[in-house]
Amino acid sequence: MPVDSASAQPLCHASRVAPGQALGVDLGDEGRDQFFIVNHQGTLHAWRNACPHVDGAPMAWRRHAYLSPDGQQVMCHAHGARFEPDTGLCVHGPCLGQRLTRVAIAIDEQGQVRLAHLALAHNEQPLKEFP
Ligand code: FES
Repeated sequence: MPVDSASAQPLCHASRVAPGQALGVDLGDEGRDQFFIVNHQGTLHAWRNACPHVDGAPMAWRRHAYLSPDGQQVMCHAHGARFEPDTGLCVHGPCLGQRLTRVAIAIDEQGQVRLAHLALAHNEQPLKEFP
């Protein structure tokens, strides 16, 4: 996907997220990740840090801890929901069949990961605390 590097904010270098790892992104240093990037089998996917079980609930118990212990699934640590890292589909837990919200990202020629759309940078929907 082509990216206008002058308008899309760089998030990190693609090499910073190794296969089986995740990286939280806190745009504007708000003190919480608005979304996170997952490397699933060499492909980066980005998901909003908002569990579909409780709309807007953050998912990690500590910074960058978005994956199951085996690194194979995205996991919400509030109530244990698990999601496919490439589709966002919940395959286990209280929101079975629901999906994470994808964040459109792209990698430029220099390997910088950038938002493909800037709407999320303004955090249109406030995130909630754990219930
Ligand atoms: S808030 Fe994520 S599983 Fe309940």
